[in-house]
Amino acid sequence: GGGGGAAGRGLAFDAIAPVDRLVDAFTVPQGFAWEPLVRWGDPLFKKSPAFDFAAQSPEAQAQQFGYNCDYLDIIADGNRRSGVLVTNHEYVNPGIMFTPTTDAAELRRRGDIYKMAQGMAVVELARKRDGGRWKYVQGGRRNRRITVETTFELTGPAAGSDLVKTKADRKGRHVKGTLGNCAGGTTPWGTVLSGEENFNGYFAWAADTAGQKRYQASASTSTSTGWETYDPRFDAHSADYVNEPNRFGWIVEIDPQDPKSTPRKHTAMGRMKHEGANVIVGRDGHVVAYMGDDERNDYLYKFVSKNRYDGRKGNSARKHNMRLLEEGDLFVAKFTGDSPAAEITGTGALPSDGAFDGSGTWIPLTRGGRSAVPGMSIDEVLVYTRLAADAVGATKMDRPEDVEPNPKTGKVYVALTNNSQRGTASALDEANPVTGNRYGHVIELTETRGQSGTTFGWSILLLCGDPATNANTYFAGFPADKVSPISCPDNVAFDSKGNLWISTDGAPSTIGYNDGLFLVPLEGAERGKVQQFLAVPREAETCGPVIHDRDGLVFVSVQHPGEDGAVGAQHSLFPDYGSTAKGAVPDAPRPSVVQVYRA
Ligand code: FEO
Ligand code: CA
Ligand code: CA
Ligand code: CA
Repeated sequence: GGGGGAAGRGLAFDAIAPVDRLVDAFTVPQGFAWEPLVRWGDPLFKKSPAFDFAAQSPEAQAQQFGYNCDYLDIIADGNRRSGVLVTNHEYVNPGIMFTPTTDAAELRRRGDIYKMAQGMAVVELARKRDGGRWKYVQGGRRNRRITVETTFELTGPAAGSDLVKTKADRKGRHVKGTLGNCAGGTTPWGTVLSGEENFNGYFAWAADTAGQKRYQASASTSTSTGWETYDPRFDAHSADYVNEPNRFGWIVEIDPQDPKSTPRKHTAMGRMKHEGANVIVGRDGHVVAYMGDDERNDYLYKFVSKNRYDGRKGNSARKHNMRLLEEGDLFVAKFTGDSPAAEITGTGALPSDGAFDGSGTWIPLTRGGRSAVPGMSIDEVLVYTRLAADAVGATKMDRPEDVEPNPKTGKVYVALTNNSQRGTASALDEANPVTGNRYGHVIELTETRGQSGTTFGWSILLLCGDPATNANTYFAGFPADKVSPISCPDNVAFDSKGNLWISTDGAPSTIGYNDGLFLVPLEGAERGKVQQFLAVPREAETCGPVIHDRDGLVFVSVQHPGEDGAVGAQHSLFPDYGSTAKGAVPDAPRPSVVQVYRA
């Protein structure tokens, strides 16, 4: 118990007890309640069919909320009465969407359903009659599904490059679809960025060049969606489509206010397994995007726009700002510790100066829109960004997930979810100080010459884990026996007071509890006091937290509930739990966006 006082009156709560990993329930603090805001299969357009688990079709799925919602934002209009929900649909779980089959025609039909179930969604919202909570609007003007078949425009220096040309797009300018959309961020001009993360698994490919190998370690001949068996662009063994994987792994930008707009992929921001991107406007007016490449021993990046943000109201300013991510320079982080290497023992025990901390530099990969890496062209730097970062000696990190600047302070919070290879494939260092890093950690990074500068200071804010069973957790100095156990930080968010909120993905298999959402005050006596706000059902991960503390509302995406079960042997029945109410599906788990409110 005790507090949440730092979150203010709007969201004061007593931390929940951790929830055992076998419990199939959505758990909130005393005094709060929850409801699904929109679920997999909910109809989005006027004539969309109602969800029918037993009679799924590509046509129906294209008009319904997609699968495995991840990044989430709830963007209110100026009137505060209406708004839009924007979410990513990262991937599908065939094993709990369908019963197993080997029938080729049925597999192909399912493949087309998977194409429509992934991507992104924009869903219009309205306040409920009680004035506070939101409901989704079927048939809303801005409702949109973006799928694996939606056309995207490539922008920036690598658009039109030979490295992104295919038989179907000889100019290298337009890509069909988006893949592996994980985290994201809403820009100051109201668009939404989404990271294309694990795109590699959707292709059969030879992976025989250094550039390809850096994104897909070994050759593959088949995929879980089966697209490569009938859609030639997913068979990258062929010369016609050898470059198709190069057209994924980007930051994409969509305008949720205009359902007819063409979404864009920004090559200036580099190609990697993008977790997401979060933008802040620096004091000099340049916009800076922070980005993680979520792979063991990969890197932390930032992008600095060439042009300056226009803060005026109106269409011409917005039009200008919408192009800021098309031109600019890309940097990768190098961390230097200030303690002797011998004091970084791999156990997580603090060095003698009492902190894992030090300084760092942002090493340019491009300068003035040209390559800053000897021996690589600008196209190569942007398409094979990992090779460029390898070449300049960036610091290999413990799987950088969400990286987000605190809008109150400009300090940047880096979620490093875990890294089984730390201390083996990559050496220990002060920024990644735990051998086999099982529980993950969070770095607080302070820019020392402005948001767009090239030097920073840093310290580890949290070394995650369960203090009851692990002696070397660290909570910014807060007593470890007074915090909630936390493991595998993934997404971060801030409330209106600048408190950090962290959602997790991986707690069940590391500390034995369901994943959840946690408040972490950053200032004052409660700095580092991790307090669990909610827990998601069995086998789900908690994503995309949105904290509207002034409204007393918290939103999360519940991704892949019950994913280790099967049809007929469900591990989760979230969120309908056997209900026979209209629209409910009693016998299948449904990834959903949940709204938590004061009861
Ligand atoms: Fe899709 Fe890095 O989590
Ligand atoms: Ca130190
Ligand atoms: Ca994630
Ligand atoms: Ca994750």
